[in-house]
Amino acid sequence: MTEYRLGVIGDPIDHSLSPQIHNLFAEQTNLKIDYQPYRVLSENLNSFVKDFFESGGDGLNVTLPHKIQCSQIATSTSPIVDLIGAANTLKSTKKSKDIFAESTDGNGLIQDLQEKSKIGSANILILGAGGSALSIIPSIADCLPKNILLDNRSQEKIQPLIERFNNLTINNSIIDNIDHFEDDIDIVINATSAGFSGAFNWYRDLNLSKKTFFYDLSYTKDNSKTPFLNWAIQYSDNYSDGFGMLINQAALSYELWTGIMPGTTINKSDLIND
Ligand code: ATR
Repeated sequence: MTEYRLGVIGDPIDHSLSPQIHNLFAEQTNLKIDYQPYRVLSENLNSFVKDFFESGGDGLNVTLPHKIQCSQIATSTSPIVDLIGAANTLKSTKKSKDIFAESTDGNGLIQDLQEKSKIGSANILILGAGGSALSIIPSIADCLPKNILLDNRSQEKIQPLIERFNNLTINNSIIDNIDHFEDDIDIVINATSAGFSGAFNWYRDLNLSKKTFFYDLSYTKDNSKTPFLNWAIQYSDNYSDGFGMLINQAALSYELWTGIMPGTTINKSDLIND
């Protein structure tokens, strides 16, 4: 049986659940994989990726801080990588020397979110204007929400983010000034790193209600809530952290490498927590 040589690169990498997730996928789909975590420093990234694939590697997941650099190392890129300038998945085949870069983050989010809330015709507010927000906007736009609203503590970062999507028709429906938005906000997605150290707080009041669904791209490894969700429960009982997105983006990478889409019904307790 073919054994796929796979891995995840980042710095740090100890916290990554990807090896456990992919080993569960392999068990479930009856494939043999060797999936290793690799801590790679930025200055060694180019040579590491080149050596990994030249020595027969099949695929790599990419996590912080290497997503942008990996999109540049690749010899071919998917349309979404071209748009967002970042990649979380690299693939090479033994026959070709091509290193293909893909980003499964946005579609991983959508697969999870659409099981939990209705995206089409919703007003979706994204908090944050960094790389995480950038990586999810094209996939959200593909679902044809009513409006995508952006808010960020530093207002000056919002417009440049919208300008990246100038060629997309969705640009018309991205709203950068939510001050006068009076319609209901159906979904709020936290794409900030606010709350990484301490409680989450937003810098201004938002027009939220009991019906709003809150989704955090961050996740905890146990049943505790993320700081964003601890803030969100003052408004609503409808919320989720990003564990499902983690599983779904991994599944889409696995499918890219092996051609088989694994099942994504995995609970936190299925993974061994340290
Ligand atoms: P990432 O790639 O994870 O998106 P990033 O590019 O550093 O990381 O962006 C971090 C995001 O979190 C930004 O939108 C940042 O807001 P600013 O642009 O105002 O810095 C947001 N963020 C981080 N800490 C925050 C806080 N305490 N309150 C509100 N927003 C915060």
